[in-house]
This record gives sequence, C-alpha cells and structure tokens, in this order.
Amino acid sequence: MIYRNKITTLTEFVIQRQAEYPQAKGAFTRLLNDIATAAKIVNREINAAGLVDILGTVEKRNIHGETQKKLDVYANEIFINTLKGGGECCAIASEENEKVISFSNEFSEMGRYVVAMDPLDGSSNIEANVSIGTIFSIYKRVSEAGSAIQTDLLQPGIRLAAAGYVIYGSSTMLVYSTGEGVNGFTLDPSVGIFCLSHPNMRFPETGRIYSINEGNYSYFPEGVKKYIKYCQENDASTNRPYTSRYIGSLVADFHRNLINGGIFLYPGTTKQPNGKLRLLYECSPIAYLAEQAGGKASNGFDRILEIEPNTLHQRSPFFVGLRSMVETLESFMRQNH
Ligand code: AHG
Ligand code: MN
Ligand code: MN
Repeated sequence: MIYRNKITTLTEFVIQRQAEYPQAKGAFTRLLNDIATAAKIVNREINAAGLVDILGTVEKRNIHGETQKKLDVYANEIFINTLKGGGECCAIASEENEKVISFSNEFSEMGRYVVAMDPLDGSSNIEANVSIGTIFSIYKRVSEAGSAIQTDLLQPGIRLAAAGYVIYGSSTMLVYSTGEGVNGFTLDPSVGIFCLSHPNMRFPETGRIYSINEGNYSYFPEGVKKYIKYCQENDASTNRPYTSRYIGSLVADFHRNLINGGIFLYPGTTKQPNGKLRLLYECSPIAYLAEQAGGKASNGFDRILEIEPNTLHQRSPFFVGLRSMVETLESFMRQNH
C-alpha cells in the first residue's frame, strides 16, 4: 500500500498533543503507547484464532459466573503485563479479576495512573468471527503511595483522564479521548502502525438506529417498552420507523452508532435491576467518548459520568448515543416511572 497523503501515526499524534502541555513529562504518552502495543498483540491473536487451537472454553469461570474463553484470559494477561512493564500505571481493575491488581514492582509502584478495563468485550462473539473489542478507562492516581489504591479506581467518570476502545473488526481501530474530542486510528496491519483515520469523531445530526437485545422485552421497564414501540412507529416527519441493529458487542454496537447515528440500550430488567454492563470499564468509558463526540449517556434518569462508584464491578442500566435519541428515551423513562 502506498500512502498518498501525509500520515499521522498514533504516537506522533499523542506527542503533538503532549507538546501543548509544557508541564507534561510524557507519562501519558508512554501509557497510551503501552495500550496500543498490547492491542496489537491481542489483535494478532484474534486474527489467528481460527487457525490455531485457541478457541474453546477454558474450564474456568470468572467472578461473574460467566465462562471465560481462552482469548479473554490471554487478552487480560497481555494488557496487565504490558501495563505493568511500562511503569506508568500502578494499578488495574479488570473485568476478569475480582480484586484490584496493584503493582509493587520496581517498574510500577510510582506509576501516576490507574486503568480500568474490559480486556475482551463481546467475547461470546469470538467463535462466530464477529467484531469484538477492548475498553479502557484511565484515571490519575489521587491517593498517596502506600495507601488504598482501590479509591483511585472508584472515581466517577467525570474525573477520567482519558478513555477509549479498540475494535477488532473488519479493520482494527483504536478510538480514544483525553477530553478534547474523539479521534480514531486504524491499524495498518502490514506495518503494525495505528494511523489517524477518523479525526474529531462526532455523532451525525440525526440517526435512526436503535440497538437492544429485544429477546428480554418482557423483563424491560415500561419506559423502555414504550420507547421501543415509539422506534417502530410509522412517522415520516421523524424518519420513523427506525432500523434495528444489534451485534451483542458493546464496542461494535457503539462504534457503528457513533458513525451512522443511533442509540444503544441495555436497561435494567426484572431479573437484573441494574442491567448487565459494568459501570467502571464498560459504561463510564463509553459514556465519556459519547459526550466527547457530542452525544449523551444515561442510566435512564441520571448522567452516567456523575455516578459515584461503590464497588469495582457494579452494574448500571445504560443508554448511550445520539443526544436527541437518549433524551427522548429519558422522557419515556420519566413518564413511566
Ligand atoms: P463481555 O464479553 O465483556 O462479557 O461483554 C458482553 C456485553 C456487551 O459487549 C454486550 O453489549 C452485551 O454483553 C450483550 O449482552 P446480551 O447477550 O445480554 O445481549
Ligand atoms: Mn464487556
Ligand atoms: Mn469482557
């Protein structure tokens, strides 16, 4: 492949941004670089998954009682080891580990950042060759060295230093924000470099995609049931009926809705009042990106980014996407409460 226009690599982009902050010492640049490196390694394994005997289930269940796939375990290890070795991160909360992993080795005890992550999101889709992802949240450490590191991870989304995801799809992309808009980088697999392909990502003005697992319909709250019916009504002036798209990988569903315009819904149900998705490493980082792209994220009533987390793995109902669509959903929730 020959590049006809100037390419901006992820590394170059982050260094350029860092130069705008004279006080920055490059720690964040190195941390993001470590995440990109881990993503490339995970990407390689995912691409080879159909070729080698890596698919299938390890006889092990994670703390949520879900069966872990080999690639979940692998991705978790790669991200943990890369961040640990990088030295900028002093602790990690991962979907796959019950407790915080804090590093007290020569590299990382001084790290100024903590990371919350879902190392492999949508993992039930791996065997069907459907898009999956990695989600990450980065917070600045607020505790003193030697004190409880869990408090560093239990910060609301408004305190995020950065958040992003990697989508392993028809191409592999890393999308992230540090609070100054959202930028997307596509991996050129032939040279192993993430190149800026989607600068300043924004939701379109209007959208007509709704994404929800409708199989759970009978367990949904009244407001969600009514909103689904609203999406399906015929009304030319608002471009309804909308179209339904659901992959079952949050990263892939969100990414498509960001590009094409839509809303993703994972409500609480009568069986699981707080829904399925985890606040720290699924809802908050995606909410942060949504807001940075001009969208909105809510638990139906309140802004996701303002929820104070109490536990590492707490769940929250989650509605995210185009601002006007999420606002309409919220009005249905309020009216039917
Ligand atoms: P994970 O693979 O990390 O457990 O996450 C799966 C999540 C999320 O990606 C997706 O939106 C949701 O589960 C799908 O859930 P349902 O199968 O209940 O629709
Ligand atoms: Mn997930
Ligand atoms: Mn996962």
